[in-house]
Amino acid sequence: PVSAEFVAGLPKAELHVHIEGTLEPELKFELAERNGLELPFADVDELRASYQFHDLPSFLGVYYDGMRVLLTERDFRDLVYAYLRRAADQNVRHTEIFFDPQAHTSRGVPFPTVVRGLRQGVVDAQRDLGVHAELILCFLRDFSAEYAMATLMESLPYKDWIVGVGLDSDEKGNPPEKFAAVFARARAEGYLLTMHCDIDQENTTEHLRQVLEVIGVDRIDHGLNVLEDDALVEEVLRRGIGLTACPISNGVVTASMKAPEIRALLDRGVPVSVNSDDPAYFGGYVSENLVALAGELDLDEADLVALQRNAFTISWLAAGRRDAFL
Ligand code: ADE
Ligand code: ZN
Repeated sequence: PVSAEFVAGLPKAELHVHIEGTLEPELKFELAERNGLELPFADVDELRASYQFHDLPSFLGVYYDGMRVLLTERDFRDLVYAYLRRAADQNVRHTEIFFDPQAHTSRGVPFPTVVRGLRQGVVDAQRDLGVHAELILCFLRDFSAEYAMATLMESLPYKDWIVGVGLDSDEKGNPPEKFAAVFARARAEGYLLTMHCDIDQENTTEHLRQVLEVIGVDRIDHGLNVLEDDALVEEVLRRGIGLTACPISNGVVTASMKAPEIRALLDRGVPVSVNSDDPAYFGGYVSENLVALAGELDLDEADLVALQRNAFTISWLAAGRRDAFL
């Protein structure tokens, strides 16, 4: 087995983390107080104890409710900075951070407030902590395609601060093809493309087919059940498409870390990386995810190096910058 010290020291890239899912109870209370909001919990422990979920919808309810404390540019800046401090402490050198603008614009927070605040956090952390970060705008798939398109249009003045677009939230009844026009336009605007395609959702092999054939993504978030169809495995291998796995997140939401699937993907040469998803809610940042997976699969140091090589390889770092890590 592998030591926690080895995991801690390994240079890492994290490619699947929702910034709103890094909002720790302590910061939630701080922001509530700063913004004059009352949380219906006596303290941090009581808030944390309320984090009980058994599936994706029950998690998403808690996740969206928690965001009400995020109101000002400074709030978004502080949220990113807090995550990047923890990431830097775990020797994360590069991270591609999802944000959910519609979770904020839908409750009256303007798009520019969100993106300017997040960008300030990225810039400040890069300067103070030396950690490099990019932002990925995620559309909420349980809202309409029209709202996603309007959000894409709002993002265009900030294109230089956003490396790509993704798709998250509740997959049930919201297939990739619902957003075909939005993602085609995003591609034309120069964004890279990824989408959540979660194991344990309904119709996932059909969703994976759409993600590959209709959307033409550059990466897939989760996506572990390409294993259900050899043709899908062949296709991701042929195109060099990476998968971003989230062991602890899957473990909380579906009662299994999907370790055997990750093992099978590694054995077949599919570039899969390990990530935290929503660490403030699922209870583990990237190092804890690596340690948990290593325990489950009896990984050795070479396996962990291979996982981090995968992460840098499938990252959206410019080639020159990426190669410095390989
Ligand atoms: N948004 C934030 N976290 C998510 C997850 N784990 N799955 C789908 N949408 C999300
Ligand atoms: Zn996710």
